[in-house]
This record gives sequence, C-alpha cells and structure tokens, in this order.
Amino acid sequence: KQEPLRVLVTGAAGQIGYALVPMIARGAMLGPNQPVILHMLDIPPAAGALNGVKMELIDAAFPLLKGVVATTDVVEACSGVNIAIMVGGFPRKEGMERKDVMSKNVSIYKAQASALEQHAAPDCKVLVVANPANTNALILKEFAPSIPAKNITCLTRLDHNRALGQISERLNVQVSDVKNVIIWGNHSSTQYPDVNHATVITKDGEKPVRELIADDKWLNGEFITTVQQRGAAIIKARKLSSALSAASSACDHIHDWVLGTPKGTWVSMGVYSDGAYDIQPGLIYSFPVTCENGEWSIVQGLKIDEFSRGKMNATANELAEEKSLAYSCLA
Ligand code: NAI
Repeated sequence: KQEPLRVLVTGAAGQIGYALVPMIARGAMLGPNQPVILHMLDIPPAAGALNGVKMELIDAAFPLLKGVVATTDVVEACSGVNIAIMVGGFPRKEGMERKDVMSKNVSIYKAQASALEQHAAPDCKVLVVANPANTNALILKEFAPSIPAKNITCLTRLDHNRALGQISERLNVQVSDVKNVIIWGNHSSTQYPDVNHATVITKDGEKPVRELIADDKWLNGEFITTVQQRGAAIIKARKLSSALSAASSACDHIHDWVLGTPKGTWVSMGVYSDGAYDIQPGLIYSFPVTCENGEWSIVQGLKIDEFSRGKMNATANELAEEKSLAYSCLA
C-alpha cells in the first residue's frame, strides 16, 4: 500500500484552486493508486471560502483523499509537502502599473520560498502557476537556495495543450494524435509556440504537422497569435480567466514530471535554463523536456531556423527584463 503524498495548493480558495483540488483528489495528478493529503493555503480574507472548499472535499468522499489541511498559516501549509502547486498571487487590478504587480508578487514568492525551504520535504517538487509565472518561480528559486534548481518549475503546459488543441481543430484529428509542439520562453504573449517538430499520427503513419498543414501563413501567423492570446480570449468570453484548463494542465505537468513522459513524446515546462539553445542561463524559460524517474531533461539538438531564433530570443529578452524589474522591486 502506498503512503499518501502531501500536495500543497496555494491560492486554493481561488478559481483555479476550486477546479484543481478535486482533480488532485481524484488522482488526475498522481495517478489512480496514489493516496494524497491536500494542504490548502489562502490569505485571511479568503479563510471562510477556503473552509467551504474543505467542506466540499469532505462531502465528495474521494477514496484517495486521506486528509485536508486548510490554513492561512504558510508554515503549517508547507510542512512536509512533497509537491507544491503555487497558484496564489496578487492579481493585476485596473490602473496598476506592471511594477506594482511585480513588487507584490515578488514579496509573496520570496516569503513562500523561505517557508518551503524550511518546512517542505527535502525533495519537494514545485510548480508555479501564478503570474508572472516564470519570474515568480525564479524568485522562489533564488530565495530557497537549498531546494535544487531542478525542483522548481513554472506552468507552460497550458500553452502547450492549447497549441495541441489548435492543431487538432485545424486538421480535425484527435488531440491525442498530435504531439511534440513546443512552447519556448515566457508564459506571456511573447511565448513562441513552435510546430516545426510536431507530428500527427495518421492512418498512413506519423506525419510532420508542416506537411499536413501546408499553409505556412497560418502556421507562422494566426496559429501563433491564437495560442499567445488564448488567455485573453477566454477572459473576454467567460468574463473570468481560464481555470479548468489551467487546473487540468497543472495536473498534466506534475503527472508527467513524476510518472514520466511516453516514449518519443516531449512536453513543455518552464525550467531553470542552463544555456541550452543559447538561452541565457539563469532564467526560468519554457523548453521541450522529457521526464524519467521524476526528473526532467531538456530535449537537445533540435534544429532551430532563423524565424524561430528571433522569436526565442525575443521572449528571452522579455524574461531578462522581468528579472531585472523583479530585482529592482527587492532593492
Ligand atoms: P483567483 O484570484 O481566483 O485566485 C487567487 C487566490 O490566491 C485567491 O484566493 C487569493 O486570496 C489567493 N492569494 C493571494 N495572495 C496569496 C498569498 N500570499 N498566499 C496564498 N494565497 C494567496 O485567481 P485564479 O484565476 O485562480 O488565478 C491564479 C493565478 O494563476 C493568477 O496569477 C493567474 O494569472 C495565474 N494563471 C496562470 C496560468 C498559467 O498557465 N501559468 C493560467 C491561468 C492563470
């Protein structure tokens, strides 16, 4: 019998939290045989709502759910956790400058970094969802120096899944038959969704997306902007930001990281760059990765054309700017 794993969700009283915790309790994140204990953190103004979520988790009688900790105390929330999903953050409000939002989030992630470093399980895996996701993850890494850099990641799997979805809609094929798109860079509108290595399983075997969709204008234009701006399109349609797809993609991210990617398939994750693909080291940048034995590694040696190079550099430059903005907030 497997021992339960402790999974922290911060911002658990929010929209994504409400979609995410039942998925985790049903086994969508760690598999159908892995019991879990959920740790849910939010801030005092949300304590009532957080308790309501705890009540619903009890009422749902999930067989895999072995306990629920709902708290506004960051130390209690982080204690002994094996997986930390960082969804809590300060949203951008009307009239706020980018620097003000950055400043709020940098101080949240600096504080939570220390709590995780001191109280989480030593091999804790961290996924940052809250925006600016890459830079929040970088701050978390910098202020939790004893957590290995490879254990700190950010979510670009939603963008990756959106790219798969767009290709499957365009070709009218099953989304599960499309693979190996790549999201490079920042989880922002400068991200580069790249289909140059993507393939589709057809009845005549596996074919490159570039062969099946000969319309380069669409692939180099509308496809990219649709994926980049999908978040805004959801807000426009729903009057709320994407929550179920964000929650589902967070499950996919941890699932594949812990349990491995299928042979011949890669996924996109925001990870600490080591200079791969000439991206400056020291950024949290989204790369194509494969996972095995609980560790990710960047897919090496993919050919990068000039069009891609420009887009990969542009999103890296934005991340470098965000990094210096974050540091100026700390100063
Ligand atoms: P929300 O506003 O509904 O929920 C956020 C929750 O965080 C609230 O309950 C709030 O009280 C809580 N919170 C604020 N400060 C906190 C702190 N210091 N500690 C713990 N909890 C805290 O927002 P929603 O829609 O759930 O989105 C959450 C974040 O995820 C946002 O930053 C959003 O931009 C980001 N996001 C990222 C995506 C990605 O693909 N990386 C996709 C969609 C959203």
